[in-house]
Amino acid sequence: MPYIGIVDDNPTALLHMRILLERAGFPDVRTHTDPRASLAAFKLEPPSVLLVDYLMPGLDGIELLGQLQEAGATLHTPVAMVSGAEDLESMRLCAYRAGAIEVLAKPVNPQEFTLKVRNLARLSTVPLHGRFQADFSPLVVPRSSRAPSAKTGAQRDDVPMLRMLEKVAAFRDDRTGKHTTRMAFYAAAIAHSYGLSIAQQDQLMEAAPLHDIGNIACTDAVLLKGETLDGESRLAMEGHTTTGYELLRDSPSVAMQLAAEIALTHHERWDGSGYPLGLAGEHIALSGRIVAVADAFDGMTTVRPYEPQWLAERARRVIKSQSGSAFDPAVVDAFDAAFDSLLRIKRHFDGGEVFAAIPSSTH
Ligand SMILES: [Fe+2]
Repeated sequence: MPYIGIVDDNPTALLHMRILLERAGFPDVRTHTDPRASLAAFKLEPPSVLLVDYLMPGLDGIELLGQLQEAGATLHTPVAMVSGAEDLESMRLCAYRAGAIEVLAKPVNPQEFTLKVRNLARLSTVPLHGRFQADFSPLVVPRSSRAPSAKTGAQRDDVPMLRMLEKVAAFRDDRTGKHTTRMAFYAAAIAHSYGLSIAQQDQLMEAAPLHDIGNIACTDAVLLKGETLDGESRLAMEGHTTTGYELLRDSPSVAMQLAAEIALTHHERWDGSGYPLGLAGEHIALSGRIVAVADAFDGMTTVRPYEPQWLAERARRVIKSQSGSAFDPAVVDAFDAAFDSLLRIKRHFDGGEVFAAIPSSTH
């Protein structure tokens, strides 16, 4: 099957490029962190388009292209070389000489990157199939169209699967079993205050409980340590975002796709210092920006093994103080405006009453 091949020793950069291309509609994107392993794979089955990092240990991008050319594996494959901005000028001519027809700077600009790859795909003699969307990726929703597209909530067929996965996610929740549901109510109330439609609030409500489903791959030791992690334990904990995304991304269901987007982006920070991709500003999906605030509020106002419970008003002040650094200022404004609704939701859950719908005051 025709596919796009990417080789980069940096797994985060690799994941970012793969996600952008998958979101853009390319159906088969195969990635390699080890250039030598990629060489063997590409000789066996040449890609339709190839993206190669310039600086890699063992075998750099120029050497890799040379060896592929020698083997005749890239005769019909448009190639782009990808590189950090600091190396760009010095490598440009070497890249063209090695057969690259495009040179791309890292970190890639999402929209420019997907458009350039689309143009490369058009040059390929092995056409890629798929529904490429040139100007829309949920990870780069522009301000003017920042709301998710108006689709209805989960289709009926999705509901049992969503509920089942919600229970799976709740098993790994070390606070109370109610966290995932309560957080989804907070997210829907913030979405309402932000100006999203009722259908969009419903979508968020369905998908948000799965934000931490990737925790099923974390050990208890990592999960219960909470914020005090370092080194490998921190990396393992941060991996719950990409694990959740990988678990959910293959479903054609709109609700699952949204859940995958939330799982991936709910720990990104507005200033670009979050994880796993270090996306900044509106490059972070709106759903993830909303869930980040809802999750933070719930985390601060819930008793956890590693942190005392905060009063809601204090949590409100802290979240507002992180507007523009951790959180999207527009989402924080929506959170602030919805604060009374959030308190009502919290009281319902604290009292043990779980309601079946968002309180009418939030609609
Ligand atoms: Fe999380």
